[in-house]
Amino acid sequence: MKKIVLFLLLAVGCTAPRGWTAWEKTIIERSDSVMYVCVMPQDSAILRAPSQNLEPELLQSAPLKTLLDKMYRTLTDPSQDGVGIAAPQIGINRRLILVMRYDKPGEPIEPYLNIQIDSLLGEKVPGPEGCLSLPPYRGIVRRYPRVQISYVKPDGTPVTEKVEGYSAIIFQHECDHLDGILYTDRADTVMVNENWAEERKGFSYEKPDWWR
Ligand code: NI
Repeated sequence: MKKIVLFLLLAVGCTAPRGWTAWEKTIIERSDSVMYVCVMPQDSAILRAPSQNLEPELLQSAPLKTLLDKMYRTLTDPSQDGVGIAAPQIGINRRLILVMRYDKPGEPIEPYLNIQIDSLLGEKVPGPEGCLSLPPYRGIVRRYPRVQISYVKPDGTPVTEKVEGYSAIIFQHECDHLDGILYTDRADTVMVNENWAEERKGFSYEKPDWWR
């Protein structure tokens, strides 16, 4: 009997969904609408960790809606003003990114859940990159001009699509974040962006008091 109980416990333990961790919930609930963005080297433990998929029951959850809203506000706030952001950058190691779609009318910023790059297409081309987690640097990185991606939309629809142009570069940069890779790992050259400090002076980038 004991053996059966133990087996059942093990089986449940192996298959039970992880759900939001207490720390993930804390970040989602306690962050301001403009979230703290993790930076190197002080947040390298988070930025270098691989991210996990969101379990199916989390895809429609209220905390995810709040998180997407706050990540959008963070990315578009004048203090950051980015073109893409990945969940590890706000402290959550989940496969979730926001990307500005330069290839769509109106250039919307859209969320991509449980995203993966299926294929990298064409010949690599060098181009400039920066990262909210690596102020005040910029670099030249060679990336593929087209990608095929698979992801889940916030309404639960699974999608596979091909993307090209600058958005394809952003997808590669943001998906790298989900594997703990930073653009400086791939860059041919990295230099200080002289405009960065000037453009963003006057903004606060302090860690919140409640951040452990
Ligand atoms: Ni980045």
